[in-house]
Amino acid sequence: MAVFETLFPTSLYRASFRPMGSLEKTCLSIAAEDKAGQRWSRDHGYGGYTSYVSLDDLTRRASIFADLEKTLDGHVKTFARGLRFERKRLKLDSIWINVMEKGAVHAAHIHPHSAVSGTYYVTAPPGSGAIRFEDPRLGLMMAAPTRKAGHFVDVAPKPGLLLLWESWLRHGVEVSRSQGAKAKRISISFNYA
Ligand code: NI
Repeated sequence: MAVFETLFPTSLYRASFRPMGSLEKTCLSIAAEDKAGQRWSRDHGYGGYTSYVSLDDLTRRASIFADLEKTLDGHVKTFARGLRFERKRLKLDSIWINVMEKGAVHAAHIHPHSAVSGTYYVTAPPGSGAIRFEDPRLGLMMAAPTRKAGHFVDVAPKPGLLLLWESWLRHGVEVSRSQGAKAKRISISFNYA
């Protein structure tokens, strides 16, 4: 008899919930007012708008973000329990808005200084770029044969979808091919530490 064990799996947490109020409207009005964020996004070729560098007070700026934080806290707690973290009390460390337009991409990256990261999709028009997760073993594989399942997992965004992963897991956003003026992919990303 042979036993085939799976060691050190990589977890992705998915949930779905509708936000109260109009999160889409709040995100777009904050984006329209945030000149520093607009400038940063333009200067760095972001392909839309992000509040990542310009705003660090979303949960105080709009009550809908304070409500969102409470909901996220619950999901992160469940995820941390599932991961069997010895320390389960994680706290929201940063949260930011992303508005991606047609042609926008986001190169693969990790989120340093955090334990759990995630994204909540507010809108996702058809053709919006998927989020792509990379096999964390890729950099260690040297001469290992490629696998039939590949080394990347794409998740298509959907309005109301919440994804959580451990912050060391490399991910990026594939090119958006959405069309038209309303074709903005709005998401909210965050880190728990
Ligand atoms: Ni990211």
